[in-house]
Amino acid sequence: MTAVKQLILVTTRDELTATRAAMSGRVAVVMTMGALHDGHAALLRAARSEADHVVATIFVNPLQFAPDEDLSRYPRTIDADLAVLRREGADVVFVPAREEMYPDGEPKVHVDPGPLAAILEGACRPGHFTGVLTVVLKLLNLTRPGVAYFGEKDYQQLTLIRSMVGDLNVPAEIVGVPTVREPDGLALSSRNRYLSAADRHAALVLWRALQVGVTAATAGETGEAVLRAAREEIAGTRGVATDYLELTDPWLRPAPSRGPARLLVAASVGSTRLIDNMAVELA
Ligand code: PAF
Repeated sequence: MTAVKQLILVTTRDELTATRAAMSGRVAVVMTMGALHDGHAALLRAARSEADHVVATIFVNPLQFAPDEDLSRYPRTIDADLAVLRREGADVVFVPAREEMYPDGEPKVHVDPGPLAAILEGACRPGHFTGVLTVVLKLLNLTRPGVAYFGEKDYQQLTLIRSMVGDLNVPAEIVGVPTVREPDGLALSSRNRYLSAADRHAALVLWRALQVGVTAATAGETGEAVLRAAREEIAGTRGVATDYLELTDPWLRPAPSRGPARLLVAASVGSTRLIDNMAVELA
């Protein structure tokens, strides 16, 4: 007989604190907004492979949504999410209500994400990273992990979390996990479920544009040529409105002339906003 560990579901900070206090050894956290897919499963598996205890969190954080964004439309699939967490061997899941996370309403103190939050996603979604870093710091304080796992698909988020943890001396290691893709290249995202069949097809141009950039870099093209090739691939695609397609260094500073770089894209496909990115090596 195989012993199946129980998943403990906690909804209050007090329950989480008590559950966390009973853990010894290495604790990993995987923070999510639910609507779990194979990308989240990869984070959970990475956590499971090296930690003694895996804590997951599910909280659709209102602070990171602008008033015109999809907070109410964001998918809530708690039963399916719990099944994924059980399958991937999470020990505890924290599913707080909004009032539990923000008992006094909008917090008076926020994390200032600094200048990196003014570019790319931050330029398109003002205030987004203030909301993300504020909730991530709260969840790090509540779960006190040795290590926290975040997906590389949200590359700017991952970079900013690393900066916050370094700058504010948060005692947690931050590990980035490569993007999980559909067999045809589309990056997994909770928002993919909103794509119509035609949008789903059109959305593949994001991946193709990144591929074209990687291929150009591999062929020894300059950063400018890499960017031009990627932009040409996406330009004029019906139903796809590009917010940005940029080349940076791995820390999101201006692109180097050679060495490791990052190609990042965001676009609305129909009414669904998607992001993706890839590492490129400039020769
Ligand atoms: O990446 C996400 O799902 C969210 O931004 C996070 C890190 C769980 C914070 O709400």
